[in-house]
Amino acid sequence: MTEQKTVVLGVTGCIAAYKACEVLRGLQKAGYQVKVIMTKHATEFVGPTTFHALSQFPVGVEMFDEAGDPVPHITRAKEADLFLIAPATANMIAKLAHGIADDLLSSTALACTAPLMIAPAMNEHMWHDTATQDNMRTLRARGVQVVGPATGYLACGDHGDGKLAEVDEIVAAACEALERQLDLAGKNVVITAGPTYEAIDPVRFIGNRSSGKSGYALAREAQLRGAKVTLVAGPTSLEDPYGIEVRHVTSANEMLEATREPFAAADIAIFTAAVADFRPESVAEGKIKKGGKDRLELELVPNPDILKTLAADKGDTFVVGYAAETQNVLQYAKGKLVSKNADLIVANDVSGTLGFGSADNKVWLVSQEGVVELDVMSKEALASAILDAIMDTIDATR
Ligand code: CTP
Repeated sequence: MTEQKTVVLGVTGCIAAYKACEVLRGLQKAGYQVKVIMTKHATEFVGPTTFHALSQFPVGVEMFDEAGDPVPHITRAKEADLFLIAPATANMIAKLAHGIADDLLSSTALACTAPLMIAPAMNEHMWHDTATQDNMRTLRARGVQVVGPATGYLACGDHGDGKLAEVDEIVAAACEALERQLDLAGKNVVITAGPTYEAIDPVRFIGNRSSGKSGYALAREAQLRGAKVTLVAGPTSLEDPYGIEVRHVTSANEMLEATREPFAAADIAIFTAAVADFRPESVAEGKIKKGGKDRLELELVPNPDILKTLAADKGDTFVVGYAAETQNVLQYAKGKLVSKNADLIVANDVSGTLGFGSADNKVWLVSQEGVVELDVMSKEALASAILDAIMDTIDATR
């Protein structure tokens, strides 16, 4: 029998603290051992005895009163396969972001090398405060996994953002993190993402509405599954993901050059970028003035097809392309599989509301093995499903 995994559950001072009892129960039902640490403020809402009885382990609150253990924060930190703080108050989020270790929970979090997941809960103004949002950005950029918050009626009587995510959602996210397979360990993955901007003059460009979200979600998921990831990104407003080498580029030509070296070393290459097919033949040295012109013509020349250029000499690299189509989705995707020498095409229908800039997406996976249709899902869930399909196809064909 494999050893039972341990979740260290941190509970902070918030009305939603009582829901941590249900989170604890949910994790136990899923087969995990749970050990609880509470802040002093949390004990104002739920007594440690409740968590002690439910978890069957003593609950840590104070730094220095655990009998026989002079360093309880280190002991607990070492036990964790996952460190989950639910609910996480604005104060705890601020402490995590700044490395403040002034009680047992924050000290254990700092000492813990296991993945950290937080489920924020607070008043909506506290959630939207710039300080909290800056702290959240810092934590996300470090790879902290965040569940919620949800929108709804808050304890203070307001309606808005800041409600603790549903217990089932927290438990499901924790289970997923605990069972995440490291099936990409040791693999090099290169991903292109975002749009390219093709300069017209020093201040103008031709671009597109790609947000880069799909590529960034794939990069993050591949990294969580153990891969060494290089992300070659056109201009986006997204934060560089923690632990991933990001090569920032602007134009298609720059993207091609920045992708060559990581592609040569890649086991898997995923081309999600929405590359401009054409660029102005020449870039004006100075800003183009209207100067009474009643017509302005731009001469465009084709950009290199980055995917096709690199996949022509792909060796053992598993190559994945994207196809954004408005009609005959599968037919065009099958055509691109062959013409671009790809192993898998992720095809999506961008004629409706899904695709560029949207949070959700619907895709078909097209390979020589056939076509698999996936449900509409978030770009994060899709990233996981696409990596599963890539690994399955590699296993089936190699
Ligand atoms: N792609 C690329 N370089 C380009 C154009 C596209 O690497 N210059 C990649 C995209 O990242 C995507 C795939 O090729 O993975 C498909 O791109 P798409 O724009 O859908 O197809 P095109 O080949 O440009 O064909 P069309 O515009 O006719 O649909």
